[in-house]
Amino acid sequence: MNVILLGPPGAGKGTQAKRLEEKYGLTQLATGDMLRAERASGSALGKQVQAIMDSGRLVDDATMIALIASRIDKLGGKGFILDGFPRTVPQAEALDAMLAHKGLKLDHVIEMAVDEAALVARLAGRFTCVKCGASYHDTNHRPKVDGVCDVCGTRDFVRRADDRPEAVKIRFEAYRKQTAPILPYYRGKKILETVDGMADIDDVTRQIETVLK
Ligand code: AP5
Ligand code: MG
Ligand code: ZN
Repeated sequence: MNVILLGPPGAGKGTQAKRLEEKYGLTQLATGDMLRAERASGSALGKQVQAIMDSGRLVDDATMIALIASRIDKLGGKGFILDGFPRTVPQAEALDAMLAHKGLKLDHVIEMAVDEAALVARLAGRFTCVKCGASYHDTNHRPKVDGVCDVCGTRDFVRRADDRPEAVKIRFEAYRKQTAPILPYYRGKKILETVDGMADIDDVTRQIETVLK
């Protein structure tokens, strides 16, 4: 099964993708996480995207399409959840062409509908496990044991530079102008389904599971 989670910054894509990975045996392909890993490794790609990401703007389509193609190749046909890709109409078109070429297809595109105003607080309170990428929140979703990742036991967490309110504003603009136009693209293909991303985290998981049944 191949799934896309779509939604603005802070919609909960990463939070839900991690849960689905385990339950359905899918691999999360999160382009933002991939880029952050490139930055942490000090690679040429990491250096190239650093300033763009921290400002809140999108990285160019050619770079992102090449990155995702190499990751889908490595899966050897195993199912995936895309989190953060596609983010523009050209990326969505390139994904379709890539999958068709491999004899694969998308099964579900799930829009996480959210109220933008509430997301600023979600992003401002977010912290992420350095080792496994699990996402937490200062008030909405604290680790069960303070300072220890529920998933992998690590005690190291980071906060993202692009969660500053100035960068969040630019990320929302990029979503509205560049990403939202892919919703009608998938609606036209009759594979778009919408869940209420403002519900609590467990409830959103249940809604997604209903879609995937
Ligand atoms: P990326 O890392 O993909 O960031 P994003 O799309 O802005 O999304 P986020 O990761 O901020 O939000 P999320 O939906 O995963 O929310 P989360 O689950 O963490 O991209 C970063 C940058 O990389 C881009 O700006 C761009 O520069 C570049 N990039 C990446 N992909 C690209 C592409 N394809 N093309 C071009 N450029 C690209 O949840 C957020 C917080 O809320 C957490 O604290 C969580 O605990 C909490 N929370 C989650 N769900 C709920 C809930 N239901 N109720 C209450 N709190 C909740
Ligand atoms: Mg994310
Ligand atoms: Zn962890």
